[in-house]
Amino acid sequence: MEFILVTTQAQPHVALIQLNRPKELNALNLQLMGELRDALKALDEDDAVRVIIITGNERAFAAGADIKQMAGKTAIDMLNIDQFSTWDQIRKTKKPIIAAVSGFALGGGCELAMTCDMIVASETAQFGQPEIKIGVMPGAGGTQRLTKAIGKAKAMEMVLTGRFMSAAEAEKHGLINRVVPVELYLEEAFKLASEIAQMSPVAAKLAKEAVNRSFETNLDEGLYFERKNFYLCFASEDQTEGMNAFVEKRKPEFKGR
Ligand code: CAA
Repeated sequence: MEFILVTTQAQPHVALIQLNRPKELNALNLQLMGELRDALKALDEDDAVRVIIITGNERAFAAGADIKQMAGKTAIDMLNIDQFSTWDQIRKTKKPIIAAVSGFALGGGCELAMTCDMIVASETAQFGQPEIKIGVMPGAGGTQRLTKAIGKAKAMEMVLTGRFMSAAEAEKHGLINRVVPVELYLEEAFKLASEIAQMSPVAAKLAKEAVNRSFETNLDEGLYFERKNFYLCFASEDQTEGMNAFVEKRKPEFKGR
């Protein structure tokens, strides 16, 4: 891996992926995105990992897709490169993913953070979809996920003006989970990850899938989907363990089976 750093057990059951092109503000070139896809797939298949954190550095989570790599491309080049199929695979990761964001989360960087399941941000984080300023528009989900997260008026303004949103504003509008001082954002992401890592990994995967389904279907279908996943939990040893532990007044020990 050239452009990302992966620590499989950064904390018990928690993996950390750090985007690592600091000089380019972690601009997401094709190779970095391919590495990220491969790392997520490997972590998704690793039974010892229950939660994944994706982070950048203090100055930038990621300043977007690599503009220099795209600058000379034609529409047919872009079609053939098909960079967004990589994003589709990232979206299919079954384990919970937390984005720990500081500094710039712009364009594809904002879209990557929104592809994660939760966002913990530092006070210095700035979110934006500034593609309009370089003559294009979001292409990795920005128009859809941002609108669903913060509503049409605010999303439209960000997409049409390229204006950045501060971490405080992003929290107020429901784009992110919480804001903490810059020296604490990674620690806070680990705290959240550890809390989730103590739950049943089976239930966590099924619950993530059901929450995400709410973005893709109507209420009736969504409730049906939820119910099936709820019933499926009862096929797990974790369900027996969780409920027995409650009755026996002890802490459950989930195994992910
Ligand atoms: N692609 C390629 N290189 C980038 C980059 C990007 N998205 N963002 C920053 N860089 C590079 C700069 O070119 C610069 O490199 P050099 O030193 O070699 O010139 C280096 O990172 C540092 O950047 P700046 O000197 O510009 O730093 P700054 O502090 O003055 O400005 C910034 C920071 C406001 C984030 C500015 O870099 C910027 O506007 N970046 C582009 C943001 C953007 O437009 N993102 C959207 C990209 S398109 C997209 O993402 C499409 C999609 O939906 C998938």
